[in-house]
Amino acid sequence: MLGALAVALLSASTALAAFKTSELRELIRKADDTIPGAFIVELSSSPAKRATDAHADFLGELDRRAAGGFSTRKKYKSSLFNGLAVQLNNPDDLTSLSAIPNVVAVRPIRVFHAPEPINRRILSGAAAANGIPLGQSTHYMTGVDHIHEQGYAGKGIKIAIIDSGVDYMHPSLGGGSGHGFKIAGGYDFVGDDFDSYNPDSKPMPDNDPRDTCYGHGTHVAGVIGANPGNDHNISGVAYEATLIAYRVFSCVADTTDDILTEAMLRAYSEGADIVTMSFGAVDGWASSTLSVVASRVAEMGRVVTVAAGNYGEGGPMLFSSPASGENVIAVGSVQNIMTMRPTLLSSVEHAPIPYEDVDFYRKQGQPLPISESPLPARILSTNPNSEDQACAPITEDLSKWAIVLRASPKCGVSTQIRNLVPANPGAIIVYDTREFILPSGYPPCAWLLNKDDGIFLASEAAKGTLTVTFPQHNFADVPNKSDGGLVSVFSSHGPSNELYFKPALSAPGGNITSTWPVDLGSWATDSGTSYSCPYVAGAAALVLQVKGKAASKNMRSLLQSTSKAVPSSNANSALAQTLAQSGAGLINVYNALNAQTEVSPATLLLNDTAHWKGSQDITIKNTGKQAQTYDLSHFPAVTVVSLDSTGNYWYYPDIKRVDAPAGVQLNVSRVTVSAGGSATVRVTITPPKAVDAKLLPIVSGWITATGSLGDIVKVSYMGVGGSLRDAQTISTGNNQLAYDDGGLPAVLPMDKDNVYAQRGPRNYTLGKLPVFGFMLAQVSRHVTLDLIDAKSNISSTVPDPLESSPAQKRRAFNLSGLLPGAKSVAPPVPTVGAIAEWRDLTHGSIYGPGVPWLTADFPAHFANGTTVPFGQYKLLLRALHVGGDPDTPADWDIYVSQQIGVIEG
Ligand SMILES: *[C@@H]1O[C@H](CO)[C@@H](O)[C@H](O)[C@H]1NC(C)=O
Ligand SMILES: *[C@@H]1O[C@H](CO)[C@@H](O)[C@H](O)[C@H]1NC(C)=O
Ligand SMILES: *[C@@H]1O[C@H](CO)[C@@H](O)[C@H](O)[C@H]1NC(C)=O
Ligand SMILES: *[C@@H]1O[C@H](CO)[C@@H](O)[C@H](O)[C@H]1NC(C)=O
Ligand SMILES: *[C@@H]1O[C@H](CO)[C@@H](O)[C@H](O)[C@H]1NC(C)=O
Ligand SMILES: *[C@@H]1O[C@H](CO)[C@@H](O)[C@H](O)[C@H]1NC(C)=O
Ligand SMILES: *[C@@H]1O[C@H](CO)[C@@H](O)[C@H](O)[C@H]1NC(C)=O
Ligand SMILES: *[C@@H]1O[C@H](CO)[C@@H](O)[C@H](O)[C@H]1NC(C)=O
Repeated sequence: MLGALAVALLSASTALAAFKTSELRELIRKADDTIPGAFIVELSSSPAKRATDAHADFLGELDRRAAGGFSTRKKYKSSLFNGLAVQLNNPDDLTSLSAIPNVVAVRPIRVFHAPEPINRRILSGAAAANGIPLGQSTHYMTGVDHIHEQGYAGKGIKIAIIDSGVDYMHPSLGGGSGHGFKIAGGYDFVGDDFDSYNPDSKPMPDNDPRDTCYGHGTHVAGVIGANPGNDHNISGVAYEATLIAYRVFSCVADTTDDILTEAMLRAYSEGADIVTMSFGAVDGWASSTLSVVASRVAEMGRVVTVAAGNYGEGGPMLFSSPASGENVIAVGSVQNIMTMRPTLLSSVEHAPIPYEDVDFYRKQGQPLPISESPLPARILSTNPNSEDQACAPITEDLSKWAIVLRASPKCGVSTQIRNLVPANPGAIIVYDTREFILPSGYPPCAWLLNKDDGIFLASEAAKGTLTVTFPQHNFADVPNKSDGGLVSVFSSHGPSNELYFKPALSAPGGNITSTWPVDLGSWATDSGTSYSCPYVAGAAALVLQVKGKAASKNMRSLLQSTSKAVPSSNANSALAQTLAQSGAGLINVYNALNAQTEVSPATLLLNDTAHWKGSQDITIKNTGKQAQTYDLSHFPAVTVVSLDSTGNYWYYPDIKRVDAPAGVQLNVSRVTVSAGGSATVRVTITPPKAVDAKLLPIVSGWITATGSLGDIVKVSYMGVGGSLRDAQTISTGNNQLAYDDGGLPAVLPMDKDNVYAQRGPRNYTLGKLPVFGFMLAQVSRHVTLDLIDAKSNISSTVPDPLESSPAQKRRAFNLSGLLPGAKSVAPPVPTVGAIAEWRDLTHGSIYGPGVPWLTADFPAHFANGTTVPFGQYKLLLRALHVGGDPDTPADWDIYVSQQIGVIEG
């Protein structure tokens, strides 16, 4: 019964208020992210047998064994993946399918959604430069500006973009496709209308991957390949590279992993040097279909870049797949140092003036939502410098005017604006004050970013002839002093579930301007790891062009060891941001191409304290022509305290980052290496002492080698200073979750508007059965839900949130004597029947997009169709600890629910 039940995706807004029964129903219906009965089957690829024969044998066997019949969705005959995707008419035939000889893995087919925009704006018209040449700021951040100056732009390198297609008719993307064009080819696997949730909707593949409806892939393509010399002075990182567009997202914008697998294998077989994928789902396991296939493509010497995911607000260790694939380059996001601001124009010759709409409820960075026609502008005093304009109520009708208003140091800007309300001005333009916000219901108000712009407007307005306009599509780049250059809040945290070093590194992904389908506006600004990912694909193309294609094998290490630390804030003495979010740092292509020193490994995986690998050797190789002396030192990043006192992961904005470094010792602090020679250094790392190990602190940082010829190269480390296996896996104590009066797990009757928890025994009739809800505090390979007799003596090993008494003794239940031999089967206990089973889950989080808590309907029937007999029951929830042994009872958390009677009625 893999994936037979719903995974509910709870968004932040629903978590905070009382949760409606109708919403819960909707979530259960919508959120099932697997296709019932659909599976990807991997067959052993024994060289003795051609894939075609293996497929025929398998299909013959399945025909004999699957009583309910089946259809074939896909056939994979790649040297990287031999198998099929099948649709069973009866999901229960899975047991027979799994027993077919030659089957090495069966995985449910999962739905992947195209990433949602984070702060998307459609642009038009050019804007004014301000400091760093407009459009080039991301390259300035990564040293790509220097590489472009040297004449490299990725010529001769082939990059596959697996996404929503590309609008190749865009003038900055070549204005056409096919041989000789930037977009040299591609394939559309889905067509415009494919909707993976609708069983009647079938993919309509063809050879044309043009994106005219969704935009995401066009934006990605521009990050890599936009030709210089356009309105926004943007240039792609590798604008001379050849791009192949594989379209996997229709206009409906979701797809399935059997299609994504096919796209990856095709990109591989069609000779892509680099494959870039800006999609994913919260998962974090290296064993999911896409993680496995992506990792195999990388193992064959192709560069595979994958977006880390936009789940950063959900807290630490909430990574996504396929970014969790072992050999891929998972890319996190750093905010652009420039952000776009709307601008206003005046009737006097002057550069467009950037401003901010101060209405709290409107989206940041948008123009004032008023007409584009010119408004006459005036000031409220004969003296433009007056310090008490609008300090008293104004009743004159100002509706035809834009009021240029110097913020008053005497009465304060909020008093001034309140005084202007009765006058109903067409717009207010405020200057000479700190940033502020207004609740809704005030006249439209623009706050000028620069005081000088305000002084200019005020003196012109004093002359009596000034008009101003607020164009709806006119933006300017201004330096972002608050978070420019910092890790984007949305960028997902690693490490991955098996504690791999994730993300690998980061690149600019917040506030990125790029190409957009011509029919939808041509240019847009958007944010996401979706855009940092192709940035690294482009950077890799520059490296391959300069160093040759053999450099692909070592690409991740090269970019990691030459990246730059990302600070945790803009304060001067700020420690570096956790590598669990920034990876090894912000890539620097100039360093990568100029360093004459290599370090290996580039990352030290410390694991957790139960499997701590604290002592490791690193090798420093001097590839230059002169001897170099290296000074070695340790730079710790902030440590993330993963859990709160209830054992649940912290989430944004409360994620705890503390100055509590790991202990690091090096057996030498300085070493001289001859030209072409190498030296080995022993690094010994101990978990941090200043944080409680039970809170699972994530430690990270770098060992840096600073060479006498100017090279700076780094080895990054990451690990968990506590034992994951000992951590409680079923979440309890999360009492702000889901309903008014308590936390999960709980039986949730569905008879009132608001979701609430059943307390004490309760009877239900067959038509009105409840839902069971729970959340995981830790990732788990295996979770089961069974029906047991109400008189069963099994008891919970985790505290019951419904009981006011403090925690019961954990793991008191002894299953000895009942244990089976088979791996990853929940120890059998006397149950009435199985209800649900989940594999390879991530931990939940109360906050954040795409973060699961889980639900199961109390069933009226068992899987075999038998009606659940009338009687008194409880639900038994069991979850295997991460890294736990399925055969060890103490490695399972147990929760026993309130008593549920099923009665006639
Ligand atoms: C446009 O970008 C180029 C680099 O590609 C830069 O040299 C130039 O100054 C920029 N132009 C403007 C107007 O910012
Ligand atoms: C910049 O990016 C951040 C994060 O995505 C977003 O919140 C902000 O609104 C963006 N700012 C602009 C001006 O686009
Ligand atoms: C910088 O970006 C952040 C969000 O990404 C935003 O809150 C802030 O207002 C921006 N600052 C400027 C000066 O644009
Ligand atoms: C960490 O240790 C566990 C348990 O031995 C292992 O399964 C896992 O692969 C290790 N992770 C890494 C990155 O080595
Ligand atoms: C440091 O450790 C490395 C690796 O164990 C070893 O090869 C090297 O000789 C050691 N150096 C010194 C000075 O002890
Ligand atoms: C549930 O129904 C049973 C049988 O009808 C009855 O004995 C029991 O008292 C009922 N329990 C509750 C909590 O109403
Ligand atoms: C639970 O009941 C079974 C018999 O149904 C008994 O063998 C077992 O010892 C009991 N376990 C506990 C912990 O009381
Ligand atoms: C159906 O499944 C239930 C629960 O596992 C079991 O008790 C019952 O005997 C089964 N019925 C048949 C006809 O197999």
